[in-house]
Amino acid sequence: MKILRTKKEVSTFVNIIKKTNKSLGYVPTMGALHQGHGSLIEQSVSENNYTLVSIFVNPTQFDNATDLNKYPRTLDNDVTLIERISGDIIIFAPKANELYDSKIVSKNYYFDGLEYEMEGKHRAGHFDGVGTILDIFFSLIQPNKAYFGEKDFQQLQIVKKLVAKYNLDVTIIGCPIFREASGLAMSSRNERLSKNSRKEAAFIYKTLLKAKEKFGTKSAIKVEEWVTDQFAKNKHFNLEYVSIANVDTLKPVKRKSKNKKYRIFIAAFIDNIRLIDNIALN
Ligand code: PAJ
Repeated sequence: MKILRTKKEVSTFVNIIKKTNKSLGYVPTMGALHQGHGSLIEQSVSENNYTLVSIFVNPTQFDNATDLNKYPRTLDNDVTLIERISGDIIIFAPKANELYDSKIVSKNYYFDGLEYEMEGKHRAGHFDGVGTILDIFFSLIQPNKAYFGEKDFQQLQIVKKLVAKYNLDVTIIGCPIFREASGLAMSSRNERLSKNSRKEAAFIYKTLLKAKEKFGTKSAIKVEEWVTDQFAKNKHFNLEYVSIANVDTLKPVKRKSKNKKYRIFIAAFIDNIRLIDNIALN
């Protein structure tokens, strides 16, 4: 298993690949890998000659220092999970000062308003941090395809916008949400839940599925009200937001239209741990 640590090592590797005309798939991660990440890596391996996985807890996308410090760092386990998929995968695990030159700060982006909805309202500067680090990674790694989970659907749409606006030469592939047997979307945060809370947390996905059924006959506002009510009745959860939104603009739906696509998004706290999930409605 090859673990690269410096930009120079990555450039050398990329130059060799480019000369041979082989394809390179890229999966950006912050480590603490689980099967959700694994499914993205597997897809990249199946579609490309080479796959590079970056493992880097990006400081500029955290809006508070405690969250950043508490983020799990489990490189040895991550390497084991990747090795099980394929021994040929290249890992890039740099330190912050290797990527950010003198100052660890974000650039400012305008993603046509996508960044002001949902997560953007609750995590100040988050998407500027994501844009900044992906800009750095894409220009260094020059992948043919890069893989992102629909688990972070807003991030996926913002990355597509980044690529379109700056004419970056990479195809962004959105991958389905990988779930635990209970339906709970896989997340490194699930490890921090108590056994009981982890069981209770399946409530999010169950509520999303029922909301989808209701969306067939009821307005978006009515369905959002119903979801809010379900969470209010559940003593384990605090709902942060529920939003039924257009997949392209991420703006809340006022009136349904047959030829537009919608998803329902939820962020909620259980045990003081923030979980997010979403599903397609049509
Ligand atoms: P991270 O949270 O580590 O997630 C890395 C990728 O794995 C993201 O594209 C995320 O959507 C995907 N992912 C996480 N859980 C998933 C699941 N249950 N099913 C499918 N995909 C899942 O997202 C980030 O890191 C960072 O913001 C990053 C893009 C690396 C930039 O720092």
